[in-house]
Formats: sequence, structure tokens, C-alpha cells
Amino acid sequence: MSRPQDLPVEKDAIDRAATLLRQGDLVAFPTETVYGLGADATSDAAVAAIYAAKGRPRFNPLIVHVPTTRDARRLVRFDDRALALAKAFWPGPLTIVLPRRRGCPVSWLASAGLPSLAMRVPDHPVALALLRACGTPVVAPSANRSGRVSPTSAAHVRRDLGRRVALVLDGGSCRVGVESTVVDLTSPKPALLRPGGIAKSAIERVLGQTLRRIRPENGDGARLSPGQLASHYAPRARVRLGVRHPGPGEAFLAFGGVPAGIETPALDLSPQRNLAEAAANLFAMLRSLDRAGVTAIAVAPIPHRGLGLAINDRLERAAAPR
Ligand code: TXA
Ligand code: MG
Repeated sequence: MSRPQDLPVEKDAIDRAATLLRQGDLVAFPTETVYGLGADATSDAAVAAIYAAKGRPRFNPLIVHVPTTRDARRLVRFDDRALALAKAFWPGPLTIVLPRRRGCPVSWLASAGLPSLAMRVPDHPVALALLRACGTPVVAPSANRSGRVSPTSAAHVRRDLGRRVALVLDGGSCRVGVESTVVDLTSPKPALLRPGGIAKSAIERVLGQTLRRIRPENGDGARLSPGQLASHYAPRARVRLGVRHPGPGEAFLAFGGVPAGIETPALDLSPQRNLAEAAANLFAMLRSLDRAGVTAIAVAPIPHRGLGLAINDRLERAAAPR
């Protein structure tokens, strides 16, 4: 493997990253949601290297990234619902789980042996340029060690993965800040596997149908959503939710203003109570409070609408017993 380096994003850097991907190396790149750790989806060895670098359990399948809907349609079978969602939200923070086509070249390791594949067209100029340049589908989980907070900057990636990644393309901070919404369309009843950057209600409007929420702990959940482990997105500090006034020694993650008289470290997800801003700040602020060396983080209540569903999902996992 070549020497690790972080390249600012110019055409040369994209070409170098594409070459590395094609020869089976791992490359981290920015998307609008979080940084992804990319590998050639058609190479068993490259996909295996992703699981190893992340310390990720092999039963947790990966998302396949492609530059256009057309490329996605070569790998999985689209129906009218999938076409409508792709038209409305791609490129963008939506992942659609669909049946794999016969002869699809994606490694079975990428989908953990499932007959379905999760597909996404990211909305980021660097990600799209890289996908076009390398000409192969790219699996890309979030570029963090498994179970930790997702990275929204190149520095986060480097801190988590160090020399495990050949190259990091530095595209600055991620605009959306939480991962893509994952929707399952492998059965007649569409299901929400993970709330994310596109609001559930927006997807339901396009489908003209409500999404059933699949939770890994219930019924069919473990089979349909193998990756949604309860404890995830965990900072080192303990996390306590729905707090208006932090206790002694607790750092505070506020929403809509830090109450007066707080002496522990405090950050505000969004002084204006804007959920998009809060989502964009969430992971970086959790990391920064964690790095301040506190043992507990109290988090203000976040409204449960729009992007609030994704924010609360990540916070619940961060607060889950480990
Ligand atoms: O925003 C994102 O989606 C980012 C960026 C880099 O694109 N990627 C990301 O990947 O969050 P990851 O690996 O951290 O999360 C992938 C999720 C997991 O919850 C996994 O279980 C689910 O997608 N998934 C992947 N393939 C699946 C499949 N065939 N069926 C059901 N769920 C699947
Ligand atoms: Mg992840």
C-alpha cells in the first residue's frame, strides 16, 4: 500500500484515487452525508479489506455507490416505486435496497450474502467525479471504526482509520452530516430501515404510501436490517438524552441556546433551532465534546420531525448500553 496522504481535491487527486480503487486499495472520500471508506465493489479482496479496516462484523452489508441511476439499474432490478424515488432524490442522501440482478458483478461479501443490494447515488462533486473516474461500483460504509461516530471531515477519518486507508480526499465538512435514509423495496410493503438525510415524510409523499419502520430488535428486523445494531455512533463519554439542565460534571449539547450558568463544556447544535444545521453539526460536536475528555454528555431534547428522526436515531444509539 502507498504512503497515507490527504489530498486536496483536484483532477490529479481524483485520478490517483480512482487508480488506487481499481487496484484494490481503500480510499476515503467526501459525500454530502458523511465521509465514505471506498473499495471496488466487484473485488472480494477489496471488500474484505473494508470489513477489516473498520473492524466491522461481516453480517453487516455495505452500500454500493454509483454515479447515475442508469448504473444502478445494471446491478439491481428497479420497479416503478424505485424509479420514482430515484427521480425525486438522486443524487442525494437516499439509499434504496433492491433485488440483485442475475450476473451482477458486485461481491457477495458486500451484501453479506443477501439477495438484495443497497444502492445510492451521492450528491457531492468529489464523490461523483471519483465514481465516474474509476468506472466500477464502489462500496462505501462511513469511514470510521465500527460502532464509533461517523466522520464529517477528512481529519475525523484520519484520526479513526490512520494508515488503514491509502488516501483521503479532503472535501471539507459534509453538508448534511447524518447518513443516508435507507429504504427497503424488496417487498410490496416499503420499509424504512434507517432514518437519514431525506425525511421519511418526503419519501412517503413520493410513494403515496406510508413506510413501515423496521427495527432490528423486532420480528423481521434482524433479517431485513442486519446492520442496525443498537449500540452504535458511540462517543467514549456516556450519553444522556432529553436533558434541559446538565448535571454536575456533564458536558452539554444544546439545541436552541445554552442555558445561563453552565460551567462544563457546552456546544449548541443550532442556536436558531434549525434541524438541518443540527444534523450537520451533530457528529463533529459529539467528537469535540468527547475530545474535551468529559465522561458524560447530556443532550437537549430534539424535535421528532423531519431530520429530527435521524438525529434522534443516532443519539439513541449513542446512548444505548454498550
Ligand atoms: O450516507 C451514507 O449512507 C454513508 C455514505 C458514505 O454513503 N454510508 C453509510 O454506510 O452510512 P454504512 O455502511 O455506515 O451503513 C449502511 C447501512 C447499514 O445500516 C446496513 O445494514 C444497510 O445500510 N444495508 C446495506 N445493504 C443492505 C441490504 N442489502 N439490506 C438491508 N440493509 C442494508
Ligand atoms: Mg456507519
